[in-house]
Amino acid sequence: MCGIIGYCGYKNATKIIIEGLKRLEYRGYDSAGVALGLNGTLKIIKSKGKIKDLQKKIPDNLGTQYGIGHTRWATHGIVNDINAHPHTDCSGDLAIAHNGIIENYESLKNMLESEGHTFVTDTDSEIIAHLIEKYFDNDLEKAVKEALPLLKGTYGIVCAHAKDPRKIVGARNGSPLVVGVGNNEMFLASDVTAIIAHTKQAVYLEDGDVVLIKPESFITTDLNDRKITKEVEQITWELQQIEKNGFPCFMEKEIMEQPESIKRAMSGRIDKEQATAHLGGLNLSTKELINLERVKIIAAGTSYYAGMVGAYLLEAIPRIPAISELASEVRYRNPIIEKNTLYFAVSQSGETVDTLYAMKELQRKGATVLGICNVVGSSIARDSDGGVYIHSGPEIAVASTKAFTSQVTAFYLFALLLARMRDLSYSAGEKLISNLQSIPPKVEAILSQCSKLKEMAKKYAHYKDFLFLGRGVNYPVALEGALKLKEISYIHAEGYSSAEIKHGPIALINDETPSVFLVPDDDLREKIMFNMKEVKARKGKIIAISVEGDEEIKNIADDVFEVPRTHELYYPYIMVVPLQLFAYYCALELGRDVDQPRNLAKSVTVE
Ligand code: AGP
Repeated sequence: MCGIIGYCGYKNATKIIIEGLKRLEYRGYDSAGVALGLNGTLKIIKSKGKIKDLQKKIPDNLGTQYGIGHTRWATHGIVNDINAHPHTDCSGDLAIAHNGIIENYESLKNMLESEGHTFVTDTDSEIIAHLIEKYFDNDLEKAVKEALPLLKGTYGIVCAHAKDPRKIVGARNGSPLVVGVGNNEMFLASDVTAIIAHTKQAVYLEDGDVVLIKPESFITTDLNDRKITKEVEQITWELQQIEKNGFPCFMEKEIMEQPESIKRAMSGRIDKEQATAHLGGLNLSTKELINLERVKIIAAGTSYYAGMVGAYLLEAIPRIPAISELASEVRYRNPIIEKNTLYFAVSQSGETVDTLYAMKELQRKGATVLGICNVVGSSIARDSDGGVYIHSGPEIAVASTKAFTSQVTAFYLFALLLARMRDLSYSAGEKLISNLQSIPPKVEAILSQCSKLKEMAKKYAHYKDFLFLGRGVNYPVALEGALKLKEISYIHAEGYSSAEIKHGPIALINDETPSVFLVPDDDLREKIMFNMKEVKARKGKIIAISVEGDEEIKNIADDVFEVPRTHELYYPYIMVVPLQLFAYYCALELGRDVDQPRNLAKSVTVE
């Protein structure tokens, strides 16, 4: 949940590290710090707040050519300057920045304190600096390798030492770390966004790897000092993809990108001739796919809701029993692995620890788990048994938007593939493809009407509670709409099946609690209309997202946003986009920090 960068080269390290931290800020943004190599010492500067607050504290023209930096999302210890990373040893010569959690830090701290070490922070991470200090004998890499086996927990670390200068040591165990290979300069970062302004060559570290970077070289070894040869991979993301490009914030940019990102998720995967889909990375034989009896999907947050849509589609199209489950719950339930069951771990970042650990637990018990990920080279993408990249491009805003519609696209394609191996006819397959391909222009049409949602947000943003109500394949969309609103505007919102309100939530209805109803023209429309009347009868305000030409609804709802008609299974795309925009405009109306909402971070790498 934090961001790490290290640099070693001949350029202005301060500038490179600060720029890198700004690009990593979406990973954590409560405090930040740097350790900069300078005339045989390390200059440590830390600040509570955003990177811009840290930047103000750093003198111009420091003339440093190596150093490390960190942007924090607090787990142990309050948010203040002292608890910000990098942390130092007693001498102040060694600095470390850490992502992850050290579980046995208290016992290690007791041991080190009894040996004379003095701790100054409330963090678990500081222990790493003192432990390395214990073993340091003018060779930082050696000391790191001696210290790390004593740690229990997860880490991605970078460290520098004034007495072993012009080098950075990094190590990974459960928290991502990537080496950026430049020309007479090397980088270390927790994700590639921090380095793509400088290099497109990356080496992804695996758990147990240690790397030593110097300006001209990098060497990877394991903790036992055995050399490991790594492949240098090409980063596919472009610099302009991680910039706002004229948009006021990343969230708006990412919402607006959806016609393109949905197309990218389909690109090269539709076989019109055979009326089916090709998903190259599944690593499953035709026989295995035909024998599939069940699909289980594990994920968190928005990805979990995309999984719920996916499960609905898999039951509706190829008629395979499917369910989406919260990854955090699966792991501790001692899951039963049934035969001919395929699992999907869905994750935009590919680093969500709840999902990653659940995946490993399932694999340990013999399950095949495929990933549906956005970030290439991420932990879930690497450790899964195969999978589908959604190719959304970088998603920087903390609130996930374009990843949702692309994850859903991956499920449509998989459903089509399975269905065409079973009962779905050629012409039904063709129809499914043409419905899918008709989605991007429809999303485009919704986006072009965004000013109407902006007006609606002006009218409604001051309400304190909302209900989001949908049914069938749009039930998870209602949950997603509520999540979007609460996470970026801080307005309390609950998502329900509209059928469910009479079982409790209707008690909340009054003229201060608006309900957002999703009303497609499907088989459940009449029932949803009935629920709307129940809300109306209790003086509840109603916003309806309904289809073009539905005149009846205008007599009941206070406000209506019309969306293009589509086949009933495709409404999740059509319904979610107005909800993303509505949440976004409400947040703007309330003056929220849309891209970096309070208490949140983009990739959640703690349990
Ligand atoms: C969505 O807007 C969230 N901020 C969050 O729920 C997110 O979807 C969840 O943490 C899962 O992330 P992942 O897709 O990267 O695994």
